Amino acid sequence: MQTITPEQMDKIDANSEKLGIPRVLLMENAGRAVAEHLKNSLKDIADRKVVVVAGTGNNGGDSFVAARHLAGYGVRVTVILLGRDLKTSEAALNWRGLKSMTKTVKVLTLDHPSFDEALEKHVLGADIIIDAIFGTGIRGVLREPHSKAIDLINRSKAYTLSVDIPSGLDPLTGEIHDKSVIADATVTFHKPKTGLMKRRDIAGEVVVAPIGVPPEAEEGV
Ligand SMILES: NC(=O)c1ccc[n+]([C@@H]2O[C@H](COP(=O)([O-])OP(=O)(O)OC[C@H]3O[C@@H](n4cnc5c(N)ncnc54)[C@H](OP(=O)(O)O)[C@@H]3O)[C@@H](O)[C@H]2O)c1
Repeated sequence: MQTITPEQMDKIDANSEKLGIPRVLLMENAGRAVAEHLKNSLKDIADRKVVVVAGTGNNGGDSFVAARHLAGYGVRVTVILLGRDLKTSEAALNWRGLKSMTKTVKVLTLDHPSFDEALEKHVLGADIIIDAIFGTGIRGVLREPHSKAIDLINRSKAYTLSVDIPSGLDPLTGEIHDKSVIADATVTFHKPKTGLMKRRDIAGEVVVAPIGVPPEAEEGV
């Protein structure tokens, strides 16, 4: 299978934008692919508790879209945001949308008075976890509460689906510098990242989802 480095994926993203396909459209396709994979591969999804553990970058943004689609299928979804400031306009837009879905989506943020206890309760009580803490944007030593969230996800008995790449895995080399989510499946976008294909033991089933990148965006990359 042809793989791609995180740097190449960034260039393809930027080229798509120049061709008139903004990142928010690719994000919509990415998040919907995650939700559809869960709906098609797990039985009775509407009866399961889905917990999304999200970071503040575009990996988290993909998961906000997935949460919205899952809510549309009648699934009970809780989204836990491991930070205060969304780093991109696309992630912020999808977060605002999610927060307005007050009847169908629960959100847990760092403003919760007992955030750590609530994080533990939700993650250990989940039937399905969507891991969207980090994708290709992971850098350096893991901070808190991200590090603790990875430990909890790995302690949980839930089916775990990672968005693009298991959080903690180096997307280029496949190394684990500290710790990584161990996933049952990974839905990766456009083409699998080089590091992912080196660590099938951590990634679980790898599903490659097209996200509507114009083929012209790959020219010269
Ligand atoms: N067009 C699209 O929408 C599109 C296309 C392709 C892929 N994607 C998705 O976007 C992802 C890449 O998004 P991204 O570049 O925004 O990066 P990201 O993978 O979402 O990671 C960036 C976030 O992680 C935090 N972070 C990084 N290292 C950390 C550490 N050691 N400890 C704690 N927090 C840390 C950053 O916070 P700080 O900045 O504070 O460090 C930032 O909030 C891909 O993997 C894919 O899922 C989206």
